[in-house]
Amino acid sequence: PTTIDLAVIGGDGIGPEVVAEGLKVLDAVGVKAATTDYDLGARRWHATGETLPDSVVTELRGQDAILLGAIGDPTVPSGVLERGVLLPLRFALDHFVNLRPAKLYPGVASPLAVERVAPNGIDFVVVREGTEGPYVGNGGAVRVGTPNEIATEVSVNTRFGVERVVRDAFARAQARPRKHVTLVHKHNVLVNAGHLWRRTVDEVGQDFPDVEIGYQHVDAATIFLATDPGRFDVIVTDNLFGDIITDIAAAIAGGIGLAASGNINPTGDSPSMFEPVHGSAPDIAGQGKADPTATILSVAMLLAHLGYAEASARVERAVAADLAERGSAARSTAQVGDAIAARL
Ligand code: IPM
Ligand code: MN
Repeated sequence: PTTIDLAVIGGDGIGPEVVAEGLKVLDAVGVKAATTDYDLGARRWHATGETLPDSVVTELRGQDAILLGAIGDPTVPSGVLERGVLLPLRFALDHFVNLRPAKLYPGVASPLAVERVAPNGIDFVVVREGTEGPYVGNGGAVRVGTPNEIATEVSVNTRFGVERVVRDAFARAQARPRKHVTLVHKHNVLVNAGHLWRRTVDEVGQDFPDVEIGYQHVDAATIFLATDPGRFDVIVTDNLFGDIITDIAAAIAGGIGLAASGNINPTGDSPSMFEPVHGSAPDIAGQGKADPTATILSVAMLLAHLGYAEASARVERAVAADLAERGSAARSTAQVGDAIAARL
């Protein structure tokens, strides 16, 4: 599109603050966007009891993309907004690829001794399945609050759902220099889902003969993420494993303040949604302290997804330059956004 129809969901806590900087950078890179704000999250729930009205989903379907800050607030019972806003958005818009890059930019400190454990750097992407697994809400609890309570969360894995995300991971790997896919699962214990994933990776892999396949159990993967992260190129995994390992991935690549993500529907049948991996950080909300870098990198992913490859690369380069020169002096949310925008 020449003008992006962009839905903006600032959401809770620091969400609106970081999103404002993302929009500032989008403007600075010269891509036109017609934005529509959607008020979703704690404020709306307190005021109306609504989480995600159907009418909002209908309107969102007509947009080119969505930029989201964060959803979640301590004044709302745990799970209400997560299960009521964020996950229904991912499910309704069929965001089956939750794309989470982990790249250690020059000048950024990692808690790892990178020169020793990853002398060639850290640069991988996690393709996290986004619509299935234990996130579907297939479970229940009986005899709640008694000593005999039983709670289940059934992980749903369909051949259709696994195959489409695995295919996406292979395609991404094929477009990267190292052409390597690692399946992360736990097929020694989760034999049903694990074998479905393994078989699917082997079968889909036949269509990508130039892509090498590796496998790690999720527990072992956490060891390698800390001790040898340079081995990873593209990781494909289920929704819950992907949630967990992308926090570790963010930590080793400079922290959650830098971790960007895209909830992508690669078919283009519905708008994709870009958001920082971090949450609403209520402890620092309203203080102008939040680092907007993750949101700005999410804007770069948004641009790439919509075909603005050049603008996307310019935003990423501006972020990289800012990171390289970022000293230890504290800067406000707006100052970081201004500095990155100024480079454009
Ligand atoms: C994330 C978050 C969400 C998730 C929560 C807030 C529902 O942790 O985006 O990683 O588990 O997917
Ligand atoms: Mn998470």
